[in-house]
Amino acid sequence: MRVAVDQRRTRVFSWSVGELSRASGLSARVLRHWEDLGLLTADRSPHGHRRYGPEQVTRLYRALALRRMGLGLRQIAALLEEQDPDPVTTLRAHVAELQEDLRRRGELHDRLAGVLASLQDTGLTDGGEDQQAQVLMKVIETMTMFEQYVHGYQSEENRRLHDQAETLVELLHGDTGYPPGTTVLEVGCGVGAQTITLAQRSPGAVLTCLDVSSDSLTEARRRMSAAGLDTAAVAFRQTDVFDLPHDQGPLSASRFDHVFVCFLLEHLPRPGEALTRLRAMLNPGGTITVIEGDHGSTYFHPDSEPARDAIAAQVSLQHHAGGDALIGRRLYPLLTGAGYGQVSVSPRQVYVDATRPDLVDGFIRKTFTAMIEGVRQPAIAAGLIDAERFDHGIRDLHRTTEPDGVFCYTFFKAQATT
Ligand SMILES: C[S@@+](CC[C@H](N)C(=O)[O-])C[C@H]1O[C@@H](n2cnc3c(N)ncnc32)[C@H](O)[C@@H]1O
Repeated sequence: MRVAVDQRRTRVFSWSVGELSRASGLSARVLRHWEDLGLLTADRSPHGHRRYGPEQVTRLYRALALRRMGLGLRQIAALLEEQDPDPVTTLRAHVAELQEDLRRRGELHDRLAGVLASLQDTGLTDGGEDQQAQVLMKVIETMTMFEQYVHGYQSEENRRLHDQAETLVELLHGDTGYPPGTTVLEVGCGVGAQTITLAQRSPGAVLTCLDVSSDSLTEARRRMSAAGLDTAAVAFRQTDVFDLPHDQGPLSASRFDHVFVCFLLEHLPRPGEALTRLRAMLNPGGTITVIEGDHGSTYFHPDSEPARDAIAAQVSLQHHAGGDALIGRRLYPLLTGAGYGQVSVSPRQVYVDATRPDLVDGFIRKTFTAMIEGVRQPAIAAGLIDAERFDHGIRDLHRTTEPDGVFCYTFFKAQATT
């Protein structure tokens, strides 16, 4: 750091590209790229060299913090444009993010230490290759649950799910509502994006919400109370859908009048088995409602092959993770195959053009494109697409938000009885 140029007769601090590069770990090339994206624009010295003053350093800090939180460069640029230059807000969010990260890692550590301890107790470490492989599978599952869930448990994902829920509420939930006194089980409630709508639309219904992630449940509780809803009226339970029904207790068989599932089956390796288990949770005559997307239903104008390739990379990645991003079209066969009756499926198309700026922003940008953008790193690392093609695809998806752009996507909502 050094004191430098005299601008408007006031001595100010400024830094060279080299100094900024050393401090931030970003190469001069990357800093120039960030300048092209409008993220960080340098001043020029009288000799034409790039110089960065306190304002730009503050901006750089905020951009780096946002990037650590997992945001893409374009999202960061947009956020920096929107927000005031006070770094305290960013620092506070950064500290909160780190605390959450430490807690998650602590939880992972405790789980793995638990597995290790039980291995040592049972002498399984001395077992044969098969036995050890089984144990390793358990360890992999535990790690996956905490770290590799295809959409992640990061706050950006939380924001995306909430933007998605708010934008689509009428389309997906206009006809969802449960009578007072009925018992409803929401499965895979995540951070509570749908739970809030369910609670608001079904006053007096008794809600039980479960998810495999305790972090998500904590966030769901927090969001419920932030929305002014009575969290005591909702039971949140951490459990795996594949452990249902429990032998006894509140999650034992035949306890619910209704089951509600949204954007869960697409992530499960055995969605049919999950539906069979959920049927056992229902009272005779009970109903199930399932909402899922289908990325194969996406089309847009202007059409773009790179954009379709980026979407295909997401579909393929989800497939490799054991899920199915094209599951919407399978709801009918899955439900009938799991023994449900009166299955009826209703496709719900989101059609977006410039006359719907709320959907241009809430759906094309913040929901769909953000979700595809979120798999950039793993998709490239898995060799499914190269970086240039992926970024081209994302640019083309953003291109559909311009005044002549059009975007279509279909969700599927299924209802059935035991
Ligand atoms: C895409 S999120 C959807 C969350 C919420 N339903 C919504 O629509 O916003 C999927 C959720 O399913 C949960 N999940 C994944 N596998 C699960 C399992 N085997 N049992 C229970 N929950 C699971 C994840 O933790 C995540 O919160």
